[in-house]
Amino acid sequence: MTKQAQRPNICDYEGSDYRQRFWEGKGRDYEDRVERIALRRLLPGHGRRLLEVGAGFGRLTNEYEGYDQVILLDYSLSQLQYAQEQLGRDPRYVYVAADAYHLPFRAGVFDGATMIRVLHHFADVPAVLGQIRRVLSPGASFVLEHANKRNLKAMLRYALGKQPWSPYTLEPVEFVELNFDFHPQYIREVLDGVGFTIGERLAVSYFRLDALKERVSADVLVKLDTALQGSGLLYSPSIFMLCKAAGDGASALDASTIFACPETGGELIREGDTLYSPGAGQRWAIRDGIYDFKAALD
Ligand SMILES: C[S@@+](CC[C@H](N)C(=O)[O-])C[C@H]1O[C@@H](n2cnc3c(N)ncnc32)[C@H](O)[C@@H]1O
Repeated sequence: MTKQAQRPNICDYEGSDYRQRFWEGKGRDYEDRVERIALRRLLPGHGRRLLEVGAGFGRLTNEYEGYDQVILLDYSLSQLQYAQEQLGRDPRYVYVAADAYHLPFRAGVFDGATMIRVLHHFADVPAVLGQIRRVLSPGASFVLEHANKRNLKAMLRYALGKQPWSPYTLEPVEFVELNFDFHPQYIREVLDGVGFTIGERLAVSYFRLDALKERVSADVLVKLDTALQGSGLLYSPSIFMLCKAAGDGASALDASTIFACPETGGELIREGDTLYSPGAGQRWAIRDGIYDFKAALD
């Protein structure tokens, strides 16, 4: 079996119309607004270098204005190309096409990270959260959003016998291929195991129901959601949480380069518009300002 074949499957958004199909004019103003409110409540307003894992088309990237540098990482080159068109080639933004299971960064180079609407695509949660912990400096802030299997709708459907899986058990449920819902306690245990301490948790998007959104204005729903977010009642479909990188670890916030070989963790040497890993004997391209670690050139 090849090394590649052993890797967990990836939910590939390459060439996807996610932005138009899911967001633009699709009546999700309420979801977008309450997610931004939760993010602002949890993420420190200022920092040096923030990694946005699964940044997609850059929907939330304008929330990171207080950070000196923002690294947008996504597996989809096409999503990043769109983000780059919107945000421009300002050196404050670094665009990286890579697999979050194999982050191409040195340990301890970020003091902030976010991952929103992404964890539900991961079959191996400890592996991806462990990667994120590795690249954070001690004390760094990580805002994580996850889909919550113990939500009111799932509880009701289970009680009525309309849903076979229990919302109360800890194991993730894969309701569609590579789409998982997680129990808050399961996520807590994994975060603890990979070296995070968990701070505030917010219950977000309680009113994500078409019938309700058709009848009640987004302004009212946003107000109600904002009031409920900090209630401590974690029965909403989406949970936002602030995690801190625990332990001593290495801080490399002053490092001259953030990149490391995604295969070996060793150094990468810049040669023209490529990055070369002597350890792996592999080379990756930088295409129109996007670091492309999806597939090695040789
Ligand atoms: C539902 S979208 C969310 C995008 C953005 N965070 C937002 O909230 O608008 C999920 C994103 O996760 C990315 N993704 C999925 N698996 C990934 C992986 N293994 N590595 C990096 N990105 C991944 C997809 O390419 C997609 O852009």
